[in-house]
Amino acid sequence: MATGINAESVAAEFLQHANEEQGHADLIAQRIVQLKVEPNFNPDGLLMRSHAEYVEGNSLIDMIKEDLVAERIAIDSYRDMINYFGNDDPTSRRMLEGILAMEEEHADDLVSLLEKMG
Ligand SMILES: [Fe+2]
Ligand SMILES: [Fe+2]
Repeated sequence: MATGINAESVAAEFLQHANEEQGHADLIAQRIVQLKVEPNFNPDGLLMRSHAEYVEGNSLIDMIKEDLVAERIAIDSYRDMINYFGNDDPTSRRMLEGILAMEEEHADDLVSLLEKMG
């Protein structure tokens, strides 16, 4: 839905982030399976379990701002999970720390895009 002169670079950034988010979901699902639990892939209730809400932006800037809100929620959620694991499960904690670093990059990318677009 990205249109306007900045559309192409923003769409490329969104696509890269979306692919990385998919990678995070896969990593987490793999770890859950390793821990001998079944990951919950049921789309029913996905919205209810989601930490961030889905908001449609009317403009490119709105879309980036909404995305930034969601990235910041993700950052807080991963921080909480990292604290929760502490030293009880260092493997899960390290995985989440890697994901957290990437979410921080996503948020940075979006802030830079907003700055570029004024
Ligand atoms: Fe992610
Ligand atoms: Fe992200």
